[in-house]
Amino acid sequence: MPSTPSPAPLSAWPPTLPSQVAPPEFAVSAALPHAVLGVDVVAVPVLPGDAAGDAVVLGPGAAELAELLDLDLLAVLEDEDASGKPGEVTSVPVPLGLPDNASVRRVLLVGVGAQTTDDLRRAGAAVARATRDRDALATTVPAIGADDGLEAFVVGTMLGSFGFHWRSGPPPHRPVGRVVLAGLPDAERATPALERAVAIGGAGWRSRMLCTVPSNVKNPPWLAAQAETLASESGLAVTVWDEQRLQAEGFGGILAVGRASATPPRLIRLDYTPRKAGRRTPTVALVGKGITFDTGGLSIKPGEAMVNMKRDMTGGAVVMATMAALRDVGCPVRVVGLVTAAENAVGGDALRPGDVIRHYGGRTTEVTNTDAEGRLVLADGLAYAVAEVEPDVIVDVATLTGAMKVALGQQVGGFFANDEALAATLHAAAERAGEPLWRLPLSAAYESKLSSTVADADNAPGGPGAIVAALFLQHFVGDLPWAHLDIASVGDAPDERDEWTTGPTGFGARALLQWLGSEDPLAGVGS
Ligand code: BES
Ligand code: MN
Ligand code: ZN
Repeated sequence: MPSTPSPAPLSAWPPTLPSQVAPPEFAVSAALPHAVLGVDVVAVPVLPGDAAGDAVVLGPGAAELAELLDLDLLAVLEDEDASGKPGEVTSVPVPLGLPDNASVRRVLLVGVGAQTTDDLRRAGAAVARATRDRDALATTVPAIGADDGLEAFVVGTMLGSFGFHWRSGPPPHRPVGRVVLAGLPDAERATPALERAVAIGGAGWRSRMLCTVPSNVKNPPWLAAQAETLASESGLAVTVWDEQRLQAEGFGGILAVGRASATPPRLIRLDYTPRKAGRRTPTVALVGKGITFDTGGLSIKPGEAMVNMKRDMTGGAVVMATMAALRDVGCPVRVVGLVTAAENAVGGDALRPGDVIRHYGGRTTEVTNTDAEGRLVLADGLAYAVAEVEPDVIVDVATLTGAMKVALGQQVGGFFANDEALAATLHAAAERAGEPLWRLPLSAAYESKLSSTVADADNAPGGPGAIVAALFLQHFVGDLPWAHLDIASVGDAPDERDEWTTGPTGFGARALLQWLGSEDPLAGVGS
């Protein structure tokens, strides 16, 4: 008999995720990087050349480092052909540490271009990749811009650090543990900007994490449990509808899509009330598509088209992550977040092509393609929001149509709106957040395509796919100011680029927070 006791067997089912890496911690310091103790990397900005004819110019903290190292850093940059373009990193090893700061092992010279928010976000992401597996960084890169430059740098650093793993051993890499924003003498001014940045970056991280979790863990009840956890952390009220309650209240779209799955559908509601809310405080409703896996149903997808469908709940993840961060960005309006969660599966009990379903509130749909399931669950969510939340504005977010990817490629999301002020505000907020959205038309000319011989509408009457889907949804919002974000194009990043990491993106939470965290998000809307 062997004498060594065998380890307790880990149960094979249900599968459990290992612990995950966390984004870096951030702090503000008035000191320059060389004087920040306990860091192993320091980073200073490199600006493109000025009118005097210099190839590049070094930012704050560089002169002190050059002196301590007894090294001409401009000559190093010249030798490397550095131009100061955003995200360019020149790495200088410091094997023996700095005098009086022995832990420093590396100096990074980081290009910041014209120091726009896009440039600083890109610089932050580049710094994140150059410092992974390190303990701590001190940097003056965000000290050269305005407050929104600091925000962009921090968001870029956080999201460029994103990681998720389910390996048997430890994760292959860890984000740098701590980032000290150095050379900022006015900590009182920098701290609120940093807190807002961490809230926005954290929302992007949470959204990306939820989208990345595999669907053998992430089913509708799991998503609802995540909502309950984040609600208690963020001071939100939460309500979850189980399948019996969905049945009793007439959510025919959510039930139809979810009926063949071994895990039942859910409707999730999160309520945010601002601290200074009064009787006249307006309400925004956010509705997210939460398909935890999209096989297409009986109108089944080919294998290659199904591979990425664990992230067909991106809209729902965006709504959840946005809701969790509203308090930290000081959102001044009430917000109600709804996530219509279902798995679009196949089975003997599945929704069939030709079936007619009855949505919340009574409108009917003929299902000619079970793969056009997103609009079926969203219709229930929108109808519920209009009837029960009575919002001033309604915005839905969904990975709705493959047509959007054909139109816009993988770096721009699409949106539709029936209100000019809302369209302009969302467009600007998305641009500022680094999650660009392009507006498409709600062309009434295609309205006749929706007609069905047996029901109020046909769910899949052909192209133009993205516009017809938006027109289908419009029937459920009546005359309310409304925007529909179709983010199917941007749900996956094909490769590592700036703050995007290969795989699910969680695209949209930063854009919504840039909007809802502004001073007067509903200015001019509905007038
Ligand atoms: N989830 C898909 C849309 C999608 C496609 C997202 C590719 C991300 C990448 C959606 O449910 C879907 O299948 N839409 C169909 C609709 C069609 C059947 C009318 C589509 O776009 O092909
Ligand atoms: Mn589908
Ligand atoms: Zn789908």
